[in-house]
Amino acid sequence: MALPTSVVSAKPASHAAGLLVFLVREGEKLIPVDGVLDGLFSRCAKEEEFTGKEGQMLSLHTHGKIGAERIAAIGIGKERDADRTLDQLRTAASRAVKLAKSAGAKSLAIVVPAADAAQVQSLAEGASLGAYVFDRYKKEKKPLKLSRVELLLEAKPPRALPDAARLGCEIADAVCAARDLVNEPPRNVTPRALAAEARKMAQQAGLKCEVLGRAQIEKLGMNLFLGVAQGSAEEPQLVRISYRPARANGKALALVGKAITFDSGGLSLKTAQGMEDMKTDMAGAAAVIAAMRLVAALEPPFPVHGYFGACENLPSGTAYKPGDVIVGKNGTSVEVLNTDAEGRLVLADVLAWAVEDKPAALVDLATLTGAILVALGPWTAGLFSNDEQLASELLACARRAGEPLWRMPLPAEMEELIKSPVADLKNTGGRFGGSINAALFLQHFVGKVPWAHLDIAGPASIDKDRGYNSRGGTGAGVRLLAEWIRRRAEATPPARAAAKKR
Ligand code: BES
Ligand code: MN
Ligand code: ZN
Repeated sequence: MALPTSVVSAKPASHAAGLLVFLVREGEKLIPVDGVLDGLFSRCAKEEEFTGKEGQMLSLHTHGKIGAERIAAIGIGKERDADRTLDQLRTAASRAVKLAKSAGAKSLAIVVPAADAAQVQSLAEGASLGAYVFDRYKKEKKPLKLSRVELLLEAKPPRALPDAARLGCEIADAVCAARDLVNEPPRNVTPRALAAEARKMAQQAGLKCEVLGRAQIEKLGMNLFLGVAQGSAEEPQLVRISYRPARANGKALALVGKAITFDSGGLSLKTAQGMEDMKTDMAGAAAVIAAMRLVAALEPPFPVHGYFGACENLPSGTAYKPGDVIVGKNGTSVEVLNTDAEGRLVLADVLAWAVEDKPAALVDLATLTGAILVALGPWTAGLFSNDEQLASELLACARRAGEPLWRMPLPAEMEELIKSPVADLKNTGGRFGGSINAALFLQHFVGKVPWAHLDIAGPASIDKDRGYNSRGGTGAGVRLLAEWIRRRAEATPPARAAAKKR
């Protein structure tokens, strides 16, 4: 659950709070804290060389001299651009929450630097994201004393600000739900359990959810998906979550997520170390489920569908084998050379299925390749797209959402690397350009639909706490998708009322 976060109009110096936080830009005068505690705070700041550098923090007990029990200044670094500012605020708000937590404060008040809706939304996001812990399986849980966050403004806040704080909380809630799904052990997040989570979310949000089992997947001809699933005793599940406005304006958007609930590599078995994190191989689907929940809240005027095909990739006597040739849903035959390149096989069939719904645009999210980490490092997702407009939209949304994203090429001349001597395609393309090969492979299954593939193998999880992300699942892609849906909704006029019959 998100930390309840509200916008409050009050004078910081007299406002009662467990912890009162000022955000300070690097190099700027300490105006916000001047005069607080009769100038004592700014004197301390000078003595301790607090300059507002990103991550710098100064905190003091007030001994009851002002409304707050404790005050702190948190550096947010130098000003760069509006999008970067928002991410500085997310980070600072999460730091403020962590400080409040370690000080045992029951309430936190953050002085808002500007009466700006996007900034308020980011502060709300950062606060709740920073409060996230995954301690379900710990005997010793540290209950959060902090029960609320107030965003302080001296002037009366314009109407848009409380709405922005609410949206920030909803987004953070959805991101944390995705994190939970990724962090939950694979013995619990089986394909059936993941489908059940989607159904539960859909029910709560008022969305439709269809869940198809093995027999129905067979009927649909999704043999690539079934091939990956056949080594496991768990039944594969094909899921479609649908949002439909009462009166729709325009074609649907489609979101597709990779949902391998555990990736051992199959018969092309991974090393023990290579498997340690492979419960996170359903992070794409977790992002789609979370994003669909936000779609229900954002109520765009067009339909949105979320799709995933969930299964495990395991070696066994029934497992698919290197050398197998399998014909997928859209009639393309694939030679399986490496059973560890399973994600593209499942996605191929699910993409082909999603395309049958004729979406205006399709975005898939997948922890698809280790190679994207080699190319872009641990925190940046790769973007592949057949559509310039869609690609630039997503890059802009990613910057706004604070989710590093970098465009990668889809060079036609590399197609020869995934040609097979015995089938239409093979599922690996050799050692070089591994993420590009995978994306080129997927492109064979989307037809002419404007499509973007986000390889989130890097940012989907991290190995230690970092800013407002904590160790484990990050919920990568959720904020980006929410921003994309929001912008598309804003750019689409509501459907005209049906013409009255004469
Ligand atoms: N799920 C993995 C990709 C992955 C690796 C995600 C590391 C997160 C961290 C994917 O199914 C996979 O195994 N890809 C192979 C492809 C190869 C066999 C062509 C890889 O990246 O090694
Ligand atoms: Mn794999
Ligand atoms: Zn995988």
